[in-house]
Amino acid sequence: MANNYLIGKNLSYSYPDGSIGIKNVDVCFERGERIAILGANGSGKSTLLMVLGGLLSPDEGEVIFKGESDLDKKRSEIGVFVQDPDDFLFNPTVEKELRYETNQLDEKFDDRFNKYVEKLSLNNYLDKPPFRLSEGEKKRVMLASLLIPNPSLFLLDEAFSSLDPFYKEKFIKLLNEQNDLEKTIISATQNLSLVPRIADKVILLGKNGELIKSGEVREILYNTNLLKKNNLEAPQVVRIAKEVGVGKEKPVSVEELIELI
Ligand SMILES: Nc1ncnc2c1ncn2[C@@H]1O[C@H](COP(=O)(O)OP(=O)(O)O)[C@@H](O)[C@H]1O
Ligand SMILES: [Mg+2]
Repeated sequence: MANNYLIGKNLSYSYPDGSIGIKNVDVCFERGERIAILGANGSGKSTLLMVLGGLLSPDEGEVIFKGESDLDKKRSEIGVFVQDPDDFLFNPTVEKELRYETNQLDEKFDDRFNKYVEKLSLNNYLDKPPFRLSEGEKKRVMLASLLIPNPSLFLLDEAFSSLDPFYKEKFIKLLNEQNDLEKTIISATQNLSLVPRIADKVILLGKNGELIKSGEVREILYNTNLLKKNNLEAPQVVRIAKEVGVGKEKPVSVEELIELI
C-alpha cells in the first residue's frame, strides 16, 4: 500500500543534557521515494535520521518500517550514513570494515564487494586503517559499506560534503541507480543546489526541531522567504531565474534555466 513504507509518528527526542533534537515530527515516506531533509544548523536533521534508522529511540512516538516497529529486526535493510565518519568506521582495515556485516553474507556479497570497491576506487586502500584516510576517502568507504549489504532504505547524513566534484557525481549516480531499483533514499543536506539531483520531495525542519513544511522540491526551493527564515539560501539557479524573470517556470537545474533563457 502507498504511504506506509516508513512512518514516523509524532517523534520527539531530547538529548540527555536537555537539548531538543526533534519535536513532534510526523513523516511518511513511500517505497522508492527520494527525500531531502533541510533545516538550519541544529534543526534536528541528524537526530531525525538517527531516530528513523533506529540508532536513537524516540522519547515519544514511534517509527514503523515496512509494518515493523522493532527496527532491530529490520537492521539489515536499513543503511545509515552517519554525519561523522569517525563515529562509524572502527575496524582495523578498510577491507574488514567492508566485510563487517558478515551475518548478511549471501552469494552475491562478493560480487557487490568487488563492484563497489571498483566503482569507488578503494582497491589501494583495502589494507589501510580507515582512520588514516582523508575525509572524502572515509566517505567513499562509508558509501561502499552501505551499498555492499544491499539495504532497501538509505538514510544519508551530509553524505555529499567533503567530496571532490568527481566523487560527488559518482555518489549521486550510484545512489540514483539504487533509487531506480525502488530503494528509498532520504538525505539530510546543507547543499541546496544538490537537492534537485538527489530528491523529489523536501521536508524542512524549523529551528526548534519541529517539521515546518514538506513539499515538492521546486515549491520549497522557490520559497526563498521561508528558506531565509531558516538560515538557508536558495540555489544560484533559483536566484538567477528570479532575476532574469523566469522564476514562474521554477527551473531547478542549469539546463532547465538555459532552455528558458
Ligand atoms: N550528542 C548530543 N548531545 C547534546 N545535544 C546534542 C547532541 N547532538 C545534537 N545535539 C543538539 O540537538 C539539536 C539538533 O542537532 P542535530 O540533529 O545534530 O541538528 P542538525 O543535523 O540539523 O544540524 C542541536 O541543538 C544540537 O546541539
Ligand atoms: Mg547534522
